[in-house]
Amino acid sequence: MRVLIGLLLGLFAGATLSLFYANLTRSQGAYPRGVMAGMRHHYDGLRRQLADPRCPPDASGVPLARLRALTEEVVPAFIEARDPGPDFVQRHRTLVATLDAALAAPPADCTALNALVKDIGDQCETCHLAAR
Ligand code: HEC
Repeated sequence: MRVLIGLLLGLFAGATLSLFYANLTRSQGAYPRGVMAGMRHHYDGLRRQLADPRCPPDASGVPLARLRALTEEVVPAFIEARDPGPDFVQRHRTLVATLDAALAAPPADCTALNALVKDIGDQCETCHLAAR
């Protein structure tokens, strides 16, 4: 009987501990997930500019600047939370360079905006595939 109680107590303690660690992992990932949710929000904002048939060059400035500001958070957020995988910093730098170039010379028309949206989207996708 004593052995059985000991066994049950041990099982209970083990289950509680693993639940605790699962929650800890999830909350540590909250910040990087939040940063990425912001990236998606502003990326969608940039993509929505394509709905305006004129694609005015000054309209892309705000979503581009927000995306660029958020990229400052990507590396610290992921390095603190988890091992982000090989080449992470390099892929991040490529996105930063693309955004800097676009901010310096905003897409002048819909063709240029379309190419930029595709280029950025491909970079998001490349990094996500590598992170898996
Ligand atoms: C340098 C690498 C990198 C780049 C560039 C990047 N991401 Fe991410 N993103 C990640 C990683 C790592 C995850 C977490 C994936 C996982 O947990 O499997 C992630 C997850 C996400 C998620 C899911 C968040 C959640 O709730 O789990 C979204 C949305 C997202 N990214 C949007 C974007 C968008 C939009 C871009 C481009 C503008 C982008 N990301 C560019 C690395 C990157």
